[in-house]
Amino acid sequence: HKQIKKICCIGAGYVGGPTCSVIALKAPHIQVTIVDLNQARIDAWNSDQLPIYEPGLEEVVKVARGRNLFFSTDVEKSINEADLIFVSVNTPTKKSGIGRGYAADLGYVEAATRNIAKVATSSKIVVEKSTVPCRTAQSMRKILEANGKPGVHFDILSNPEFLAEGTAIGDLFNPDRVLIGSLDTPAGKSAASSLVEVYANWVKPDQIITTNLWSSELSKLVANALLAQRISSINAISAICEATGADVDEVAYACGLDTRIGPKFLKASVGFGGSCFQKDILNLVYLSESLHLPEVAAYWKQVVDINEYQKTRFTKRIISSLFNTLTNKRIALFGFAFKKDTGDTRESAAITLCQYFREEKAKVAIYDPKVEESQIWYDLKEVGKGDSLEAIQQQVEIAADPFAAAEGADAIVIATEWDMFKDTNLDYEKLYSIMNKPAFVFDGRLIVDRAKLEAIGFKVEQIGKSTRDHGYE
Ligand code: NAD
Ligand code: UDX
Repeated sequence: HKQIKKICCIGAGYVGGPTCSVIALKAPHIQVTIVDLNQARIDAWNSDQLPIYEPGLEEVVKVARGRNLFFSTDVEKSINEADLIFVSVNTPTKKSGIGRGYAADLGYVEAATRNIAKVATSSKIVVEKSTVPCRTAQSMRKILEANGKPGVHFDILSNPEFLAEGTAIGDLFNPDRVLIGSLDTPAGKSAASSLVEVYANWVKPDQIITTNLWSSELSKLVANALLAQRISSINAISAICEATGADVDEVAYACGLDTRIGPKFLKASVGFGGSCFQKDILNLVYLSESLHLPEVAAYWKQVVDINEYQKTRFTKRIISSLFNTLTNKRIALFGFAFKKDTGDTRESAAITLCQYFREEKAKVAIYDPKVEESQIWYDLKEVGKGDSLEAIQQQVEIAADPFAAAEGADAIVIATEWDMFKDTNLDYEKLYSIMNKPAFVFDGRLIVDRAKLEAIGFKVEQIGKSTRDHGYE
């Protein structure tokens, strides 16, 4: 098989950036160029202020950048020089047309693929890194074959990415597995071997698995669906816990000790967010429907429905605790990112909560340690049903720290599980002293010690925990 000397990665986002930076770090003999059409993003990758926040990423980039890692907007040059090209562009949910709200928008993948066909003057291995519907590799192959130059051969691989944001570097250094799908032909298998060799620079051979193309594509959607399903399952149970006096953390712990179930991804929450779970499940739902499997589609759709239900349910609990009205009450919203240790807000539950609070005519003060202000305004405008930024800003402010947010507030709502919001790291006595009374904490992430906060004077409501006084009522 061919030895890879030069890699091009199309798409310098949350996946392409970290993934290919780590390849460059671990395989110093390979030249890696990450390209993007977005000049500002590339400029940021070339600066001290990287465009995404990810623990450990800066260190990786600093070692490899300028050595064998490059960021550029010269997409064509980089494609032409490379032996292997990762396609790591965005695949958002379609917003209009057939399949809108469910199907993946493959426009960016197709544009990148057509660009490869147009400029390549030598044979290439083209790798799907983006999460795509099952059988997308087939479409890519047809486009490449119909538009490629004579004598130029393309092999297509599927190599989905399993990293999670906030832990991307650790996940890439130590992946549970690397999955590579190829056609079951000599050329396909040889291309797969070339990519296996790249990962073998740091990943153990038995953790690199090869399958057929369609299994690889589908496995990515299924992995995300199974993970999200666990969260919706425990969140559905959290509703039972609140109604009965069972404690969702105790239930999750007791069940998770069964080695067949396992302890991970059973943390009840205000709802999962992130750019992947909802999008990929809806994609799976759409695939099932297109294959005339409505029962299968309905089964997976329920995972997303429970997630929406959880956000509404939490909001209703907040409203009823605050004496059935939020009008002109000030709510300190702690956290805006979809999880801790990232500045990413895509599909964050906090966005939905803030919109619900606005609809109830509350005032909201948002604090998040990593999310950019401009991003918060952008997200609130997107979800704001046509409201102008001025109208939004009459109800919402962005606070410089948790105390500024809580000043004069009736409630703190914890939407993101940042460590700094834990009662061991934040001065809740001080927060209590500056809030309206009765002062409430609504813990959507199960990160505070209820007894400790109640001793200070707070009324505390937590997901999956009853307030019926520890079950004695
Ligand atoms: P992103 O939006 O952060 O990055 C995609 C980048 O591709 C953008 O910067 C965009 O400008 C660029 N781009 C689009 N079309 C291009 C073209 N024709 N030429 C050059 N550049 C182009 O997206 P992301 O979060 O990195 O996700 C990328 C893919 O990886 C998606 O399919 C996603 O589902 C998948 N994925 C994401 C995660 C995650 O945690 N974010 C994890 C696993 C898989
Ligand atoms: C996910 C997958 O984990 C990853 O493998 C895939 O490549 C991309 O999608 P990501 O969305 O970055 O990664 O983060 P993840 O840790 O999976 O969290 C997703 C959401 O679920 C977050 O909002 C998180 O707070 C929430 N979550 C996670 C819970 O509510 N409870 C849990 O037990 C775990």
